[in-house]
Amino acid sequence: MIITTCGNSTKLAKALAVKLQARYSPLTLSSFPDGDIYLKFNTRLKGKKLIIVQSFHPHSDQSLFDVVFAAETAKQLGAKKVILVAPYLAYMRQDKMFNQGECISSRVMAKLLNNSVDRIITIDPHLHRYKSLKEIFTIPATKMTANSVIADYVKSKVRNPVIIGPDWESFQWAEVVAKQVGCPVTCLEKTRFSSRKVTSKMKNPIPIKGKDVVIVDDIISTGNTIIQAAKKAKKAGAKSITAIGVHGIFVENAIPRMKKNGVTRVLCTNTIERKESKLDVSDLIVKELKRR
Ligand code: R5P
Repeated sequence: MIITTCGNSTKLAKALAVKLQARYSPLTLSSFPDGDIYLKFNTRLKGKKLIIVQSFHPHSDQSLFDVVFAAETAKQLGAKKVILVAPYLAYMRQDKMFNQGECISSRVMAKLLNNSVDRIITIDPHLHRYKSLKEIFTIPATKMTANSVIADYVKSKVRNPVIIGPDWESFQWAEVVAKQVGCPVTCLEKTRFSSRKVTSKMKNPIPIKGKDVVIVDDIISTGNTIIQAAKKAKKAGAKSITAIGVHGIFVENAIPRMKKNGVTRVLCTNTIERKESKLDVSDLIVKELKRR
């Protein structure tokens, strides 16, 4: 088994190689002066199983192309099977034509991957209108969840927790995490006016005064969804506010803006590698790769 990455998940790929006792072999990936991709494998792949570990952030479009080029090349070089571990899978939020003429990006992304990899494993993909990855993937597609990793963190580090899902979609994560922690949970009703403007209100209020609030969502991008929830928690008398996203994208100064609006701590998993990625998903992936 050979493990590689197209650059976004280097630490995770190396950790998986160690835990699976597999060989980590970096790709040579650069671009020609005109921007065309240059890609080269530096190991023999004939008859081997190749695992490409690549989060689709940053640069979702480039990541998708890099993965397709790498997978196609691996097959030309005789790889027996190409498995994509995409800890964060981008494009999933555009899952319908919201306005006439729009691209349903998730379908295009899936079509490209269906044609080039043999299997995909991902963590907490944004399944909202799709109920299953099977609706867009024809290859075997495994959805894993970081809920247990988040629950373990809350159990060990948060003294008096209540969990808030900042919108209805996030309740699927918030509810499971709260159950594992054994603490109260509620979710907010969010209205999104644009990709940057959201408002929310608490539908089923729970006691928050003096509590350590943990806001759980799958993706934190601009942080605006978290900010709305944090404002409600602060107003209701929360003692501290921790924001946990499975996937910490953090664009447009999301972290300082969340902190300015009352968030005490911001954390995410290492599906996207950054300073705040304190929650490790490598054991979950190892377990899945060992299973089949
Ligand atoms: C969308 O429904 C997702 O679950 C997140 O709530 C959303 O992507 C967060 O985006 P932002 O941080 O920009 O508000």
